Parts: sequence; C-alpha cells; structure tokens
Amino acid sequence: MCGIVGYVGNGPIVSILTDGLKRLEYRGYDSAGIAVASENGLRVEKAVGKVKSLEAKIHADWPDFDSVPHGAGIAHTRWATHGAPLEKNAHPHLDEKGRFAVVHNGIIENYSSLRANLIRKGHVFSSETDTEVIPHLIEECFEGDLVKAVTAALKQLEGTFGIAVVSPQFPDRLVVARRGSPIVVGVCDNEAVVASDVSAIISHTKQVIYLNDNDIALITKDSIDLRNIDNVPVTREISHIDWDAGAAEKSGYEHFMLKEIWEQPLSLANTLRGRLDENGATAVLNGLNLGPKDFASTSRILIAACGTSLHAGMLGDYFFEDLADLPTEFEQAAEFRYRNPIIQPGSLVVAISQSGETADTLAAVREAARKGASVAAICNVVGSTIARESGAGIYLHAGPEIGVASTKAFSCQVAALLMMALKFGRARRLSREEGLEIIDELKKLPDKISQVLASSSHIEAVAEKYACAENFFYIGRGYLYPAALEGALKLKEISYIHAEGYHAAELKHGPIALLEEKVPVLALACEIPGKDKMIGNIQECRARKSPVIAVSTIGDKEMAEHADDIISIPQASPYLTPILAVVAMQLFAYYVAKKRNCAIDQPRNLAKSVTVE
Ligand code: F6R
Repeated sequence: MCGIVGYVGNGPIVSILTDGLKRLEYRGYDSAGIAVASENGLRVEKAVGKVKSLEAKIHADWPDFDSVPHGAGIAHTRWATHGAPLEKNAHPHLDEKGRFAVVHNGIIENYSSLRANLIRKGHVFSSETDTEVIPHLIEECFEGDLVKAVTAALKQLEGTFGIAVVSPQFPDRLVVARRGSPIVVGVCDNEAVVASDVSAIISHTKQVIYLNDNDIALITKDSIDLRNIDNVPVTREISHIDWDAGAAEKSGYEHFMLKEIWEQPLSLANTLRGRLDENGATAVLNGLNLGPKDFASTSRILIAACGTSLHAGMLGDYFFEDLADLPTEFEQAAEFRYRNPIIQPGSLVVAISQSGETADTLAAVREAARKGASVAAICNVVGSTIARESGAGIYLHAGPEIGVASTKAFSCQVAALLMMALKFGRARRLSREEGLEIIDELKKLPDKISQVLASSSHIEAVAEKYACAENFFYIGRGYLYPAALEGALKLKEISYIHAEGYHAAELKHGPIALLEEKVPVLALACEIPGKDKMIGNIQECRARKSPVIAVSTIGDKEMAEHADDIISIPQASPYLTPILAVVAMQLFAYYVAKKRNCAIDQPRNLAKSVTVE
C-alpha cells in the first residue's frame, strides 16, 4: 500500500529517492514526501497527490536540491489510513525538535495511548497519523545511540510496521526495521538503498536482503549491520532478483495492465518451464518439499487466499478433488485466520498470494503453522514474507505484476495449482494417460492464450458497446463459476461498474429480480460440462430483457441464437477453459475502463499489496 524508499551514499539523493518513489507509484497512494539528512541539517518536503507534485515542489522550494552533500534520505508514498490525505499527514514525520525523521508502512494499534503519554511529557504533535508517535518515541528514548533509541521505541509499539529513520546528527546512517510490513535492503558498493518493494531497488542492484520480522538494520554506505529487537546480531541470506528494471516498465503499452495481459503466454511458459515430466506423466515441484509418501498420505487441503488469488484457489479446490480425490476447502484468508479452523494431521494448507505480503493470507499461514499444518505457498514475488514463512511452495516466475488489477498472476496461479493437483493425482489415483493429457493441455496453453489475445479488437468493440452500463452480471457454472467471479471483479475494480459474479443456478434464487434491459449479463457458455444448463440460464436472462454477451467456444454456431454478442475462445479442457475465459474478460474489463477514461493502473481506493487487515 504505502511505499518506502531510503538511500545513503554520495549519489544525488533527492533524485534517487523520487525516482524510487515513481517505481512504487503502481501501489496506489495519495501523498508523498522526502527527508534528507546531511551536513546541512534536515530538509523535508511533502506534497499531496502524485510524485510529480512532490518533484514540482522540490524544484520550486529547493533549487540546489541535487547538490546536497553525501547523506541519508528517506521517502514515502502514503495511502491514507489515520488522517486525511493532507500535507501535514504525509510522511516523513518528525519529533518537534526535528532530530529524527521517520517513514512508516503499517498500522500502530496502540498509538492513541502512546500519543497521550507523549503529550503529557510535553511532546507536540502536528499530524493526525499513528506514525507520528514513532519519531517522538525515538526522541524520548535517545541517549546518544540511534539504533538503541529506535529499538527502545519499537518495543513500545503494537501493530505492524516497516520503517526507515534518518537523523541530521548521523547524516551517514539509515536505520530500517520491520514487523509485518516488508523492508528490502539492496546490497550495493559504496552506497545503500532500501525500499518496501524490490521494484524501487532493482535499478541499483539485484542483490537484496529481505528483513525478517523484528529485524533492525543500521546501514551506512559501506556496511549493513543486522540485529534483532533484542540487539542480537543476525544474518540473513542475500537473494538474487531474476528480472530486470525493464520488466517493471510499460515497454510501449498504454497501461501496465494491458502489458501484463499480453505477457500471459510468456508468463505461463515461465511458470511451466522445467516442471512438466512426460516420462512420469507428472509435474516436478521440488519446492513443495514433499516426498512420494507425503503426496500419498496428505488427507486434506485447505486453501487460503484473498481476491483474485482466492478465485484461483476455488479452481484449485476443483482440481484437487477431481484429479487427486483429495478433500479440499478454500477460504477467504481473513476468515481462515479468525474462525479457528480445524487442522488435523495430514492437512496441507496452501496459501496463494501474488505479492506474498497480503496481511490476511500471511496471518493464515501463521495460524496454520501454529497448529502444526504443513504449509505450501504459491507466490509470485520471490523472497516475499509468505513465501519465506511457508518454507515450501511454488514460485510463479510470472515477472513483476505492476498493474493493480491482477491478471497474469491469476493464470499462472491456476496453472501452478493444476500442476500441483497433477502431482498429487499421479501419486494417488490418476492414470498415466490422464496425466499425459493434462501435460499436453498445459503445453498448448500459451498458444491458446495468444489466440484469445489475437481477438482483442473484437473484444474491444463488444466492450465499447456495453461501456455505458452501470450494472452487470457475470454468470458461470462448474469450472467457469470461479471464472465468472474473477471476470466481475476485474470489471468492478477498474471500470467502477457494479458487477456481480454469480453461479448461474443461483440467479433465480433472488438476483434475477434485478435483471432488465439496462443490466447486461456476461455468460460463460464454453464447450465444457454444464454448457447445456447454461443455455437455459441464458434464456432466463433474455426473457427478462437483459442483453447477453456469451463467452463461448470457437466454432459454436448455435450460440448466435442465444446471445446478443459473442466472444469466442479456443476449445480446451475444463481445467484450462477458465484461464482462457478470464483472459477474454480481462481484455473486456480493460476496454470498458478505457472507454470510460478510468485510471486503469491505479484504480481509486485500491492498492496493489494489501498489507493491513
Ligand atoms: C484484484 C487483485 C486483488 C488481489 C488480492 C490478493 O485484481 O489484485 O484482489 O488478488 O488483494 O493479493 P495477493 O495475491 O497479492 O495476496
């Protein structure tokens, strides 16, 4: 959600920080700010709105900003929680003497009592944020040692934080710490850069250290000193980032979302690479850390995820039950963490998260681990907290997903789940022939997605026809039911059209009352089991005068009688048809949003990574 960048070294600090913030813009935010500590003292600039407003302010107020002598700086993009998006609430926050500047991601739950105590001691607050207690606490605890003061302050905090701190007394130092909100330290020569997200670091270095919860790092241009909150030195491994800065740029596409939709054949090829074993008619998923006995003896799978990842998880539920006879449940991760789920010996919890940082999914992983379950994570971001804490799983290798609306992660998650079900299935009941059929289908998937993409101008024309609608229904059955939910989610989040995803059979249990000529229905009626019943459901919608857009299979001539508009996708097995249908619906949502002039990559109120509950 919020973004943090920090730098210490001899480089042009202000430009490095603002450039880093721009690379985090995709996360969604409402204000931004920087603080630079150098031998000239502490300089702070803040602005409401985009990073370019902050830059304009810096250029106007601080003409010699790029001749700051070497020093340490922090910067932040804020997504308002405590206090409106105003300049006074933008980070960095300072104590009233201006000795310490702090940027913070997360939520300090006990901030009101801390604030009241600090006010009693004479501290003067200038914002409405929870964050501001941190610099005041550091000031209160400071006895000459910056790290000790930060540690003492953090010990008083309840809640979550990723923080970066600078002080004009120590212009060669940057202190960062985390509990629940990610901080990554880039390992560079003669300078150091930190961020809440690796995309702000990648142009400096591909070697990074992910802090663990309760780690504190004292960083200078030549050293990284890592300790835990009890001041015990700790070592963390250096991870290598396997993508380039260019992967996080638009490369000529109008929006990241469009680029990422079009990247899907390649992303999928990367997810599948080296993981299909035709000799064994199975999948190779060494990251799961499971042996043949584990695959055979697992008795139940519980899937926890949020949003688009949850929709992928719903498909996983079908895969594990159909292919591996494995009782499976899926659950919204927040529900999983709070409702005290029953976890028995033999249960495997599968956490699905593109970012690997979603607070509720992370909490579900911790709850599962606490109860002794084996946990496997399906994540895209390598080294993310969920991936590291799960200790086992499957990386998607889909490349960075920058658009707030998740697209390529979904198709790769579904492919990963299918490979996992194939692996379990082959250890349990699936025949060699069935295994080979699934492998064959998976291998053809990237080309079939390219076929869907090739029809994008037709999808655009259909989208433009319906772009004025204010309400929409998406319906599907069986494997296409989770796909309908995902299609509706894509439309609502980027076009702001109210879109409901429903099981087609559920319509007549209430929602059908809403159907009328101004409410289009997008019906998933592809050539897989359930299609005949779907035709009946389409008729029910048309009888209520709703225009119907059918997503059907190429060559289905009969569909023209039933639908007002048709989007055709290639024939595929029931397992993979949902991916093809979702790609078509991603394009549909994209073009509707474009026609409505919406901010496609940064939809209102949304953030890419939801690190708060
Ligand atoms: C929708 C979307 C969200 C995320 C959800 C979980 O397009 O992106 O619904 O899927 O916030 O995020 P991850 O997968 O990072 O845990």
